[in-house]
Amino acid sequence: MRSAPRPLDLARDRAALLQLWEVTLGATWPVHADALIAATPLGYVFETPDQLVGAIAFDESGAISYVIVDPSWRRQGIGRALHDAVVDHFRTPPQWHLGGQRSIWPGAPTDLLDADPFFTALGWVMGHTVVDMSMPTSDFRLDPEIPARMAAAGVRFDHAKEGDANDVIAYESREHPVWVPYFRARFPDEPGSVLLARDRGRTIVGALLIDLPPRHRGRWSRILGEDMAEIGCVGVAAANNNQGIGTALVAEATSIVKKAGAPVAFLAWTSRITFYERLGYTVWREYRTGTRPLG
Ligand SMILES: CC(C)(COP(=O)(O)OP(=O)(O)OC[C@H]1O[C@@H](n2cnc3c(N)ncnc32)[C@H](O)[C@@H]1OP(=O)(O)O)[C@@H](O)C(=O)NCCC(=O)NCCS
Repeated sequence: MRSAPRPLDLARDRAALLQLWEVTLGATWPVHADALIAATPLGYVFETPDQLVGAIAFDESGAISYVIVDPSWRRQGIGRALHDAVVDHFRTPPQWHLGGQRSIWPGAPTDLLDADPFFTALGWVMGHTVVDMSMPTSDFRLDPEIPARMAAAGVRFDHAKEGDANDVIAYESREHPVWVPYFRARFPDEPGSVLLARDRGRTIVGALLIDLPPRHRGRWSRILGEDMAEIGCVGVAAANNNQGIGTALVAEATSIVKKAGAPVAFLAWTSRITFYERLGYTVWREYRTGTRPLG
């Protein structure tokens, strides 16, 4: 057996990485291959002469996306060695956290019982719970009061157009800077995947992203169905909070998803459970956030 992890080389390791994921988590977390690769910007792998037995994925900000070790090779220090390789990768310590912009999960899934003791043993502090939520669109009924209230307030919803790029990026930079890369990526090719709320003066007061099939294959489409749709990065301008705009924006997005024929609407990474429950979403799966203090 090799005694040290080596950097992941996706051109060479792709098939073995997908196979390792199947062996490790295929029963509970079968993943769409493209989504796994997208969640693996950087990585290290641990291999025997015959096979890959461990892998860790992370990004330059210090976000660990996932760490997996073949069940037959656990408790032999492989997870720790992969983790230490990532720690050594950085000349100056980054902001260690689980999840992150390219991650497949917003934290460590609470149904993976090794995750908590593993990260804790390696100096991580596990934090609050965040969730993914979902709803069968057949269950969704738009409460007519919601659009009526928005019409009275002069708030309208529409899909962004190519020419809205600068306004959308300026809005997100001001209100939700962490989401700027996600919104930027929608221009110029997919402006329609950005749903905007505008006030009477056409100023943007809220935005979210909608990903519809078949163009978009959800990361958990092997669990939730090929035709799942995803809603994300839901935000309302701070000055316009508590006016029902967020609820109306998500209701509008869910209507769009239903009209498009997607049987499931999926909402990743939130801790605002009751907000979405009011619209009919339920918790799909739970995660613990985690950080690793420096020093
Ligand atoms: C979590 C995981 C990567 C750990 O891999 P591993 O190679 O078994 O971990 P190591 O042997 O390097 O363990 C390092 C330390 O973590 C702790 N640890 C790991 N698993 C543990 C468990 N089930 N219970 C208690 N402590 C545990 C121990 O302190 C261990 O040190 P020790 O072996 O000297 O007791 C592996 O269990 C796995 O792939 N699980 C499924 C995927 C997952 O949960 N990933 C984490 C979420 S991203």
